[in-house]
Amino acid sequence: MAKREILQYPDPRLRTPAKRVEVIDDRVRALVEDMFETMYDAPGIGLAATQIDVHERIVVMDVSESGDEPQVLINPEIIERAQTCDIAEEGCLSIPGYADNVERPDALLLRAQDIDGNEFELRAEGLLARCIQHELDHLEGRLFIDYLSDLKRKRLRRRYEKTARQRAEQTNRSGAV
Ligand code: NI
Repeated sequence: MAKREILQYPDPRLRTPAKRVEVIDDRVRALVEDMFETMYDAPGIGLAATQIDVHERIVVMDVSESGDEPQVLINPEIIERAQTCDIAEEGCLSIPGYADNVERPDALLLRAQDIDGNEFELRAEGLLARCIQHELDHLEGRLFIDYLSDLKRKRLRRRYEKTARQRAEQTNRSGAV
């Protein structure tokens, strides 16, 4: 297993739509292991392959308090959404240091494949439903901040562009020694 680098907003690669996984083989199983290691290490409750620059429809999650209930979703699709919504605070491993309220449907029905390729359906509500929607958005190249007002998003973009520039400058300096 190996920890992977998590892409940081506003990295344009976070906007890449993911493709379907056609064959669940050793390559995919190794990738899923790396994704769990990266997510638990961060630490986070969900990670989409997009966030480690792999543009395939794979998500790992663990919304349990004890952090010992790993769930993997391959080729996930939301097939039903509740008419009712709730509002809760979200954050993202690709946008560290920022959290804000997002309104989303409060329940859903999901269809996905497990690590052996078996198709299953999952009814989710509360935090799990929110996490699934957040991660599936990543697979479409969407981020939770896309739901915020234009003004907030513009401010955030400037702030994170500055951080990215500083990170790049630091790398250049240490590289020049
Ligand atoms: Ni995220």
